[in-house]
Amino acid sequence: MAPESEQLATPEEQADLAAEGIVLRDDAPLLEVTDLTVDFPTDDGIVHAVRGVSFSLAEKEVLAIVGESGSGKSVTSLAIMGLLGKTARISGSVKYRGVELIGMKNRKLAKIRGRGLAMIFQDPMTSLNPVYRVGWQLAEAIRAHNKISKHAAMERSVELLRMVGIPNPEERVRSFPHEFSGGMRQRAVIAIAVANSPDVIIADEPTTALDVTVQAQVLEAMEEARRHSGAGMVLITHDLGVVAGSADKVLVMYAGRPVEFGSVDDIFYRPRMPYTVGLLGAMPRLSTESDGRLVPVPGNPPSLINLPPGCPFSPRCPLSEPACNEAEPDLTQVGAGHRAACRRIDAVPALVQERLGHVETVA
Ligand SMILES: Nc1ncnc2c1ncn2[C@@H]1O[C@H](COP(=O)(O)OP(=O)(O)O)[C@@H](O)[C@H]1O
Ligand SMILES: [Mg+2]
Repeated sequence: MAPESEQLATPEEQADLAAEGIVLRDDAPLLEVTDLTVDFPTDDGIVHAVRGVSFSLAEKEVLAIVGESGSGKSVTSLAIMGLLGKTARISGSVKYRGVELIGMKNRKLAKIRGRGLAMIFQDPMTSLNPVYRVGWQLAEAIRAHNKISKHAAMERSVELLRMVGIPNPEERVRSFPHEFSGGMRQRAVIAIAVANSPDVIIADEPTTALDVTVQAQVLEAMEEARRHSGAGMVLITHDLGVVAGSADKVLVMYAGRPVEFGSVDDIFYRPRMPYTVGLLGAMPRLSTESDGRLVPVPGNPPSLINLPPGCPFSPRCPLSEPACNEAEPDLTQVGAGHRAACRRIDAVPALVQERLGHVETVA
C-alpha cells in the first residue's frame, strides 16, 4: 500500500473537482481557518459557541485543539467539515488548499470530504453502520472515491485493518461492528478515515469514549495511519495528556475562543495563560508531585449566552484583578510562534512555578 497523497489529487480527481468549479491550489496552506464564529439562536438567547477561531495547518502537521467540555471544540470541527445543522449561523473563512468551504453547497462539499478532509468522531458508531460488515463499509468508502473492483477494494480493506492493528484482518473484514470491541471499532473508523489518503484528518476526542487501557494503543494506531497517509491532522481533546506525544502545535480554547497558541513545548513548559496552567495542573503526571491529588481547574466555564465583557476566565483565575473584568484581552505575541490572551502575562511564570513546580526553560 503506497502513500498516495504526495500529489494534490490524481488527474481524474482534479477533473472531477474542476467539473464542480473547485480548483485546489498547491501554493495555498493545506487548511486555513480565519475568524470562524458560530452562533446558535435558541429560546434562551444566542449561544456564541465559537467566537473567532483562527489557525493554519501545514502539510503533515498535527495541531491539537484543547479545552474543557463546552469550549467550542466540536462545533469548530463540525463547522470546518460543513456538518452543522441549518440553525447554525456561521461566519469567517475555512479554506482547504485555497478553496473556501464556508457556504459551499453540500454536493460540492461531498467531493472534498473523504479524499480532502476526513473526520473521526468520539463515538465510532457515528461512522459505522451496525447492519453492514466492517469490510464492506471500508470497501464502499474506498469505492466512493476510486474506480476499482469490489475484490480489489476488499483486499485494500484487509490491508487497512492490518495497518490499524486489527488482528486476523482476513477474517475480521467479515465481522459486524457489534462483534468488535470499542477499541477495535475506533481502529476500523480510523481505517475508513484514511482509506482515501485524505489531506486533512479531523479527529474529535477520538479516544475519549474508550477504556483508558486501550486509549494509548488506539492513539498510536491513529498516528501510524496518519503518517502513512501523509495527512495533516487537527486532534481535538479535553486531555492535555493526549497532546504530548501526538501534536506539533497546540491551540487552547476557552469559552469559544483561542486563549493560547504555541508549540507543544511552549504550552507545557512556558504557558502564558493561567487557564493553560490550570489544565496542566489537572494532568496526573504533573500534579502528583506534591501530594498525589489531582487539582482540577476550580469553578465552571461561563454560559455562552450572556458573556460578561471581561476575560471569560477571570472568575476562575488565580491572577484575576478588577481590570480583567473590563475587556476581553486579545491574543498577543508572547514569544516566537507563541500567543496568549492574558493581561497578566508577566505574573504567569511565578504561577507556573507555584502550581506546576517547574522552573521555566528559555525558548
Ligand atoms: N446545536 C446547538 N444548539 C445550541 N447550542 C449548541 C449546539 N451545539 C453546541 N452548542 C453549544 O455550543 C457550546 C460548545 O459546544 P461544543 O463545541 O460541543 O463543546 P466541546 O466540543 O468543546 O465540548 C456548548 O455550550 C454547547 O452547548
Ligand atoms: Mg466536543
